[in-house]
This record gives sequence, C-alpha cells and structure tokens, in this order.
Amino acid sequence: MPARCVLGAQWGDEGKGKIIDRLAEGADYVVRFSGGNNAGHTVVIGDRKFAVHLLPSGVFRDNVTNLIGPGVVIDPWHLIRELENVEKGGIRVEPGRNLRISRSAHLILPWHRRIDALMEELRGPGKIGTTGRGIGPAYQDRASRAGLRFGDLEDPEILRTRLRAAAIEKNRFLEGVQQTPVDPDALAEELIEVTRPLLAAAEDTGLVCRTALARGDQVLFEGAQGLMLDVDLGTYPYVTSTSVGMSGLGGGAGVSPRAVDEVILVAKAYSTRVGEGPFPTELHDEIGARIRERGREFGTTTGRPRRCGWLDAVALRYACAISGADALYLTMLDVLSTFDEIRIALAYRRGDEIVREWPAGHPRIAEFEPVYDVLPGFDEEIAECGRFEDLPEAAKSFVRKIESIVDVPIPLVSIGPERDQVLHVQRV
Ligand code: GDP
Ligand code: IMO
Ligand code: MG
Repeated sequence: MPARCVLGAQWGDEGKGKIIDRLAEGADYVVRFSGGNNAGHTVVIGDRKFAVHLLPSGVFRDNVTNLIGPGVVIDPWHLIRELENVEKGGIRVEPGRNLRISRSAHLILPWHRRIDALMEELRGPGKIGTTGRGIGPAYQDRASRAGLRFGDLEDPEILRTRLRAAAIEKNRFLEGVQQTPVDPDALAEELIEVTRPLLAAAEDTGLVCRTALARGDQVLFEGAQGLMLDVDLGTYPYVTSTSVGMSGLGGGAGVSPRAVDEVILVAKAYSTRVGEGPFPTELHDEIGARIRERGREFGTTTGRPRRCGWLDAVALRYACAISGADALYLTMLDVLSTFDEIRIALAYRRGDEIVREWPAGHPRIAEFEPVYDVLPGFDEEIAECGRFEDLPEAAKSFVRKIESIVDVPIPLVSIGPERDQVLHVQRV
C-alpha cells in the first residue's frame, strides 16, 4: 500500500507510536498532520524506550524522512528538547535531512501555555483537563488569524513585526488577569536564537508529500489523539481543538485525503481516557485499577493516571464508520489476561431507552450506562506468544467478536510494547 493513515480509534494512547514504528520499517515518509506536543507516542526498541511528542514516530528508522505538516502546532523549545532526548538514546534526527517542517505550521508561544493554564483555572470544576501545552490557545490564534507560523522564523523582521502585533492582544488579556505582560522584542530574540538549528527543516512539506505520493513512495500518515477527542466528532467540549481524523488529514498534511489507500484504526482491547469528559465504560472499581496496573496506564505526556474501563464497541463502531476504516489493529491484548471475564459494551441504556449508536452531540452522554456482552477471560500470559493461532481460545474469540461487532477486519493484534510483539491474524 503506497499511502496509509494510522488513527487512534478511542481517547488517545492506543499504541499508535508502536504501530507507526512497526509499519515504518518499509516506509519512505512518516507525516504528522495534527495536534502538537499534547501527543505522546511511545516506541520501545529492545531495552530503550522513547516517547516522541512532536517528532513523527518514523525517526527510529533510517529509511524514513519525517514530515511535520501544516496542521501541527509546534513549540520550538519543546522540539529542541525532544531532538536532544532522542539523540541521547542514539537516534540522530537532522533538520533538513530526515526531518522537514512545514512553513505553515503554527507556533506555540509561551503565552499560549500560560493562557491554557489560566483558562483551565477559570473553568473551575468544568475544566477540560488539557495537557497544559498551549495547544487550544495556539489553534485559537490560528482560527482568529493572529498566529505565527514556522516560516516566520526564517525572516527576523517579519517575526518581530508579527510578534509585536500579537503581543498587543495577548498582553491586554494577561494584564486583565493580573499577569505579567510579555516583551515581544525579547521573545523575538530568544526565538531567533533557539530555533536556529531547526531552520534547515523549513519546507513546503505538502509539496514534498504530494511529490512522494506521485512517485509511488510509501507514505505513512501518523494520527495524534483519538477520534473520540476530535473537535467535531468527539465528546465536545472535552476534546482537543483539532480534527484528528481523515477530515484533518487534507489540510493538516497538504494532500488530498483521497490519496490514502488504507485507513488503519488502532484501538486498545479496553478503553482509557486522560482528562475529564464522558466515558461510559469507565470502571471505578478494582478491575479498573488492575487494568491500569497491568497496562501501566499513566500518561506519556503528563504522567497522569489514565481512567480505565472495558472496551466500548459503540464508540469503536462510530470511530470506524466516520473514518472509513479498512483495518483495525488491536493493541494491549496481553493486558487482559488473568481477568475472570472480559466485557464489551454493545449498547447503552438511559432510563428505559436502549441506544445502539454513539449518541453524537447528546448533551448528557455522561448519563448513558453500558450494556455489556460478557465473555470468558483467559489466565495465560500471552506476551511471548508467537502466533495468533497459539493464543488461548478465549483471547481469539474476543478478537473475532470485536471484528464481527465493528465489521472491520482485524489483521494484527499487539501483545506487548516492543516492536516485534505483534501477531498477524489469519483469516478463517
Ligand atoms: P500512543 O499515544 O497511541 O502512541 O500511545 P502511548 O505511547 O501514549 O501509550 C501506549 C502505551 O502502551 C505505551 O507505553 C506503549 O509502550 C504501550 N504499548 C503499546 N502496545 C502495547 C501492547 O500491545 N501491550 C502492552 N502491554 N503495552 C503496549
Ligand atoms: P496521543 O497522540 C490522550 C486529551 C487531554 C485532554 C484533551 C484536551 O498520545 O494519543 P489538549 O491539551 O489537547 O487541549 O487537551 O485531550 N489529549 C490526549 N489524551 N492522548 C493524547 O495524544 C492526547 N492529546 C490530547 O488529556 O483531555
Ligand atoms: Mg499517547
């Protein structure tokens, strides 16, 4: 398949990083097209564990050129730190060679992080539980046409002028809430200094990507977040501020979404969520705690404990339908061993009403209770299993059951964090 897109099917952290890294073995390009360093994608290579936030997960493969597309928001200070971090682990990323950054990508500036924190404080009990990385405020500026872009860094005069203009509004806000204002000229000088090593990467990555696709190169589009966090399709307002799925791919990468030959959704064998918002299958009991412990469910970006619960097939079917999924990759199957029974939510109940489709836009999703199918569990640890056929019967039936509920083939399951811990599912 020349062009494939990998998307999170749930509330993020489905294991996209691992899957991208795996598929990148045969890829020419890996392209991030949405979000920023709110994402945290883990790649485990032997005894080395990396978390990338802005860098595409193709950086661990020498054959890959990594593109950060126009739809991504970039915190330059963070990106520099990330380059240093991967380099410490022996991974060489050279801006201009194996890393190219769209001139149209917007910048996350220090005031965005401050405003993110202030807005959360103002929301009080209605807080979203953002990652605090300034993502929402940066996209807000993009929409209101007040943002600065990566390309502005190439021209100090333009950079200074734009920062001065932007600072007028930002400082009015900051002073209004008794915060110290920002000196735009000092910020400009700092930015020029800090971003010097990155400038060789500035490029029209959309053109690079379209040219690669026209040549028939292998291109992997790397989704961030998950479809239930999509600004239009997710559990608004408890979502991120962008279109994280196929609808975000066009503008976010600078290509036609029709160029994608295969849409792959990644889902955990259960559900997790970080931050606030509706989560119908959430477990507040010992089972939820055991899933968290077995799956080491603590945020890659913020370290927050993830909320855990059973697989929600209502939400998963919705995510597959809105994405036109060709395949579903199921991760963390190993986490579910040792449970007496495994549950899958097939519908919701609200009062006397049974709801079988995801109640998109419903203002009281928090009141929907899951209606479960209960399946037998399995005792054996499966992380070392070599073939799908060798999995315990209960594990295989669980996978087949999901496949039949969502009506999307599951060609691959993941049974551990490492690159090679995957099983190819044989068709029956
Ligand atoms: P992403 O944001 O979708 O890339 O996912 P994260 O990296 O935030 O979180 C996934 C976590 O699960 C990471 O710690 C991975 O190393 C780990 N992981 C990925 N696949 C598996 C798997 O099949 N089994 C287990 N036990 N862990 C996995
Ligand atoms: P990856 O790519 C999990 C969540 C935050 C919060 C909401 C809004 O690693 O799957 P934001 O900072 O984006 O304004 O926060 O979205 N969130 C994620 N949750 N994985 C992510 O990315 C996330 N990116 C944002 O926790 O609930
Ligand atoms: Mg993550």
